[in-house]
Amino acid sequence: MTYSLPSPKAEAILAKGNRYFRNGANYEKRRAAAQQAGLNNKPPQVIFAKAEGDYLYDVDGNRYIDFQCGWASNPCGNANPEIIEAVTAAMRQYGFIYEHPLRYELAEKLLPLTPYGHHSRLNYEVSGTEAAEAAIHMALCAKQARFIISFDKCFHGLGLGTKLVNGYDAESTRYMEAWKGGVIKAPFPSAYDAPAGMDIEQYIDYCLWHLETRIPSYEVPADLIAGVIIEPGLAEGGNWLPPKRFMQGVKRICEKHGWLFICDEVLTGLGRTGKTWAIEHFDIKPDILVIGKNITGGVEPIAVVTATEEVLANNKQSSSGSTYAGTPAGCAAALKTLEIYERDNVVERGRRLGELAAKRMAKWQDNYAIVGEVRSLGALMAAHIVDPETGLASMNWGMSVGDEALRRGAFVVNDHENTVRLYPALTMSEAALNEGLDIVEEAIAHVEKHGPMGKGIDNDVYYPHYYTGFTGY
Ligand SMILES: Cc1ncc(COP(=O)(O)O)c(C=O)c1O
Repeated sequence: MTYSLPSPKAEAILAKGNRYFRNGANYEKRRAAAQQAGLNNKPPQVIFAKAEGDYLYDVDGNRYIDFQCGWASNPCGNANPEIIEAVTAAMRQYGFIYEHPLRYELAEKLLPLTPYGHHSRLNYEVSGTEAAEAAIHMALCAKQARFIISFDKCFHGLGLGTKLVNGYDAESTRYMEAWKGGVIKAPFPSAYDAPAGMDIEQYIDYCLWHLETRIPSYEVPADLIAGVIIEPGLAEGGNWLPPKRFMQGVKRICEKHGWLFICDEVLTGLGRTGKTWAIEHFDIKPDILVIGKNITGGVEPIAVVTATEEVLANNKQSSSGSTYAGTPAGCAAALKTLEIYERDNVVERGRRLGELAAKRMAKWQDNYAIVGEVRSLGALMAAHIVDPETGLASMNWGMSVGDEALRRGAFVVNDHENTVRLYPALTMSEAALNEGLDIVEEAIAHVEKHGPMGKGIDNDVYYPHYYTGFTGY
């Protein structure tokens, strides 16, 4: 069975509401162009009326298995009642005030959980973006240096600062190019990007040489560089998992040059990759850790930067934080989430879930020409969708799989990208996981057989993909 999307009530909401959004006009224009180009299916914009546990229900009552999970933010299931209760109690008691005891309780609970118990101080922020930006300023001030290194394909947020640091395509910083003065870009070794003739091991060597030798020799002297910011599982940029040798090489180079190692675990942190922190897969102690998403069970916004005593104890020059950083509700959500993690072995459950899924997904690579590769670490999972004729990553084919999965009742993460990413709640039931994987596989088989929705048509025309009308990317 497939749902006809947008469902009738969603159509009515879109008809009324699209005009208020930045991308509403774009969405309508592209949708009309897609229809004119003879595409049968409408872009399946969906609007949900209810989120509960492993499921989402749209405004017309259609049910979906949730692999999107609040963009990897709901580790204990949607609208977790225990967390909501803790948040409600905190709101009733404190409303919003700054000086409340929960911020101290959370600090005491969280710091010993940082990788290898290595961090002694923290700062609260509201979003992952803010936290990543705060971490960078902390590093610059701690080292009294003006430059930071980030990697191709990385994603650290969409604030002004993080946009400049991101490793997305050049288009994403159009007209901001000149602002990137303090950012040095380094290559990230994904096999798909290796220059012709280089195998992955040679490419890792090249990337490390670039970082260790080329940058300090030809771009900026090492002592003017504060550090590197890196994701230990590069999610938004396409679910790329860094090779251990590369990560350990980066750490070694940081130590050699006196650079700080900033680890952005906004998406990977708190169990997404099968360990509490993804950086633990690489046996690395980061100097600064950026935490977001999972920390509050997806119920209230809060983000955190933790760091060593050396970085934060006397870091008077850096500043960060904002009005709603460390709200009572956010801290209460985080405290309850951490309690549930401990009580219900959430990290281990996520690891097992990832293991089960990886076994099944590995077969997709063998059975479908459009699945170029499956990349997963714990419950950070993705199928890399390619054009079967060229073997190259294809946004059109990937988005068609994402859309088809939605029509069949599985909500996956699929931005304007070729990867179909699955980020289930770490507590998802095995039954829901298996049903969801069946659906995604059916979507892959369908698209492989019938071709992508916009085959032969400019991506720009096909583009009215689910949700783009609203989030206004
Ligand atoms: C690694 C990483 N850093 C930072 C961010 C930004 O977090 P937020 O969207 O909470 O601002 C994200 C968001 O997906 C992320 O994946």
